[in-house]
Amino acid sequence: MQADPARPDCAIETINLVKIYKGGVKALQGVSFCAKKGEIYGLLGPNGAGKTTTVKILSTLIKPTSGVARILGHDVVQESGTVRRLIGVVPQDLTSDDEMTGFENVYIHARLYGLSRREAEEKAWEVLEFMGLTEAAKRKTITYSGGMRKRLEIAMSLVHDPQVLFLDEPTLGLDVQSRRHLWDLILSLKKQGKTILLTTHYMEEADYLSDRVGIIDMGRIVAEGTPEELKRRLGGDRIHIRPVDPAQAPVIGKTLESAGFTVVLENGEVIVKVPKAEEALLSIARVIEKFNIADIRISKPNLEEVFLELTGRRLRDEESLDPFKYRIMSRRVRK
Ligand SMILES: Nc1ncnc2c1ncn2[C@@H]1O[C@H](COP(=O)(O)OP(=O)(O)OP(=O)(O)O)[C@@H](O)[C@H]1O
Ligand SMILES: [Mg+2]
Repeated sequence: MQADPARPDCAIETINLVKIYKGGVKALQGVSFCAKKGEIYGLLGPNGAGKTTTVKILSTLIKPTSGVARILGHDVVQESGTVRRLIGVVPQDLTSDDEMTGFENVYIHARLYGLSRREAEEKAWEVLEFMGLTEAAKRKTITYSGGMRKRLEIAMSLVHDPQVLFLDEPTLGLDVQSRRHLWDLILSLKKQGKTILLTTHYMEEADYLSDRVGIIDMGRIVAEGTPEELKRRLGGDRIHIRPVDPAQAPVIGKTLESAGFTVVLENGEVIVKVPKAEEALLSIARVIEKFNIADIRISKPNLEEVFLELTGRRLRDEESLDPFKYRIMSRRVRK
């Protein structure tokens, strides 16, 4: 541990984190990253990648098998008390109580952090207002929508003015509008100077919110950079060509390859990688004019494709699980 002094620029730092759960599951296999002070760091990865395990270690809920993790220079194992005062955590599963009002949930949380009755009351109203819940504050949380419920959980995590915030899949299962609303709130928290570690398997979310993204897969960070840097690595745009007869795709692919293009076949589509789609489109059209084409479309690089390129798998395979997972989560809270 002495060999790795804390980096003063990192609000969250992990060095070679390994977590092997009882039963032998290797959830983390050497995770190292640094979330700089004041930035939103996005951990993007599919189900089971190790996102929640990382958050649990950083928020002192579980201990790493080996490796080091620090919050603002404090070791999460040796200085767990100090770390807990510095951080706010919004776990993946809901923690607020159904039968209490929004206000009561936040107030009790503030009291648990040692605020006096008056302070707790003032703080509760302040964070509820910030999260847009003033109107709903006196209603039982069982009546809240998914988005309101998540905003309440974030309000609860803010009562002790934490400098570092962990948001574990904050928009999982939410509709697009609630998701957008939460994104705005997360950005205003960043404006207040907080460092935020956000985990997600929505590539749009990581792209929109993160200053830097760590792509995590099977317990390892497989790539890291700003969303722009990561997308630039793909080296350009894609042109997707869908023949009327999918069986023609390989022939079209071969023809394009002979004309000097880089081609991938996927789901009956021919995908051509080009530096700039607008410039390549005409010459591609000329090469394939003798074929019967149903559809041609252009896609610009996104983090989904970065993940695919790095791992050979899609992030979105798991997306169909979301509503199911969300239902299980809610049921667990309602018992
Ligand atoms: N308490 C536990 N005991 C044993 N294995 C566990 C435990 N918690 C998690 N795992 C396993 O560790 C791996 C990483 O899980 P983790 O919850 O960190 O992933 P995640 O990236 O948060 O996934 P998700 O997107 O589903 O939330 C998975 O293989 C998971 O099954
Ligand atoms: Mg998780």
